[in-house]
Amino acid sequence: MVTLLNTIEDPKARNICRDHGDRPDELLEILHKVQEAKGFLSDGALRTIADALNISRAEIHGVVSFYHDYKRKKGAKQTIKICRAEACQAVGANALISNAEEVFRTKLDEDSITVALESTYCLGNCALGPAVMVDNELYGRVDIERLKAISNAHKEKS
Ligand code: FES
Repeated sequence: MVTLLNTIEDPKARNICRDHGDRPDELLEILHKVQEAKGFLSDGALRTIADALNISRAEIHGVVSFYHDYKRKKGAKQTIKICRAEACQAVGANALISNAEEVFRTKLDEDSITVALESTYCLGNCALGPAVMVDNELYGRVDIERLKAISNAHKEKS
């Protein structure tokens, strides 16, 4: 029996679509749940979602590429988002970024399989800058020593 690669289903994505009634107006929520479950949005998952919701693959790719939070590749083990908006810049965000690039041996907004450093613009924590988010937990008044400690604590938890 011959199986065409572009017909392979993603059962997890299929179940999540079913849980949402295969409704196209729930596409964003479905994409979030599939990414949460699998860590990223694979080609197979996007094909399955397009099929289940009866929308084109081009439409899904347009949505996924528009929103920065959707990942098309397996992500890093840890994600550190550093706020680059004005209030955080005024209290040292740029220095924190430079130090973090050195400590974590990566560049801001580049792919990494260990620690990914990502830009973000205002985490709603402006009075306590520089603000960072490590694996979706918010921290304020962060310098490089504190960021290393936070990163290590998160690594121990996972
Ligand atoms: S400016 Fe950084 S949290 Fe608002």
